[in-house]
Amino acid sequence: EKGGWSSFMAKEVSEEPEAVANTIRGRIHEGTVVIPELDGLDDLFSGISRIVVIACGTAAYAGQVGKYALEKWARVPVDVELAHEFRYRDPVIGPGTLVVSISQSGETMDTLMAVKFAREQGAKTLSICNTQGATIPRESDAVVYTHAGPEVAVASTKAFVAQITALYLLALHVGRIRDTIAAVDIAEHVRELEAIPAKIQRVLTLEQAHIEQLAHWMADTRSVLFLGRNVGYPIALEGALKLKEISYIHAEGFAAGELKHGPIALVEPGQPVFVLVPSPRHSALLHSKVVSNIQEIQARGARVIVIAEEGDAAVLPFADEVLHIPLAGAMFEPLLAVVPLHIFAMGLATARGLDVDQPRNLAKSVTVE
Ligand code: F6R
Repeated sequence: EKGGWSSFMAKEVSEEPEAVANTIRGRIHEGTVVIPELDGLDDLFSGISRIVVIACGTAAYAGQVGKYALEKWARVPVDVELAHEFRYRDPVIGPGTLVVSISQSGETMDTLMAVKFAREQGAKTLSICNTQGATIPRESDAVVYTHAGPEVAVASTKAFVAQITALYLLALHVGRIRDTIAAVDIAEHVRELEAIPAKIQRVLTLEQAHIEQLAHWMADTRSVLFLGRNVGYPIALEGALKLKEISYIHAEGFAAGELKHGPIALVEPGQPVFVLVPSPRHSALLHSKVVSNIQEIQARGARVIVIAEEGDAAVLPFADEVLHIPLAGAMFEPLLAVVPLHIFAMGLATARGLDVDQPRNLAKSVTVE
């Protein structure tokens, strides 16, 4: 079933381009987004004042990425909450709230309980799910399936990029219904999205061997930090989670701007730090802020591994390693930048002789609260 791959995870990372392509398929028509499953359900989106995204783990990080798109394109305030935290307080929700749950398995008990709770409170519910007919979509008013295909490895990879893709489609769809985004802009974002599978493939083709080599050299590393900003921030969190999960080493993700508020104290000579650098083409200011973060940690002896777009020369003097991603629109960089992090986590676990598909203490689907 692994079809020649050393692990399901390796196979599933190689399927990230298809996961995005299959999630888009049939949902783009003449330069706009058409989601057949949401046909006739416009009132899910027109009367709402707020969206709350609920999920756990990697799915929650996809939700955090989706928040940027939903707010920018659909102009709805979005909160992203861990399902188990949301459920056990007294959240302010009601008929004006759309609760969007995200789950690969569709069976995560924490997420399911939060969806049921939201319905009881009168909220509208939409599920983003990778498993046809699973419990969470059955308990929701609407479902947008991700079409990543079955994910077997415990660590989620191709489902994550498919979840972000589905959230972007949803954000464009809601923006169109609420008239918060111009048709030309939708058309441009749709073109960007359609170009993503080939760009992910390019990262796999050009960088996989390099990253695996890097992971091999770093096999004895005891801690890795990840920094990102804006849409890169949840990707930093995802990079850290994946590394803890399958390599069993300490890893932490931070918002790069937070560095000087505490985490920089962790940086000592030799500390590996991955930094996700946003393109200078989209915001020279944001880019320069991240480059100065890199200078700060490099000056303290960090081993800096940069993920930057092809041609970004500004990062070269301060980086020990540069991993390149193709040029993409600002919102689309996360779909590319996460790929090196998935490869790295897998490479490090492999270099440490671990079973990447079956990490200790974890189950693929967490059906207990
Ligand atoms: C991380 C991972 C978990 C899941 C989380 C939610 O690689 O796989 O963090 O993302 O348990 O699972 P689903 O998406 O099935 O609800």
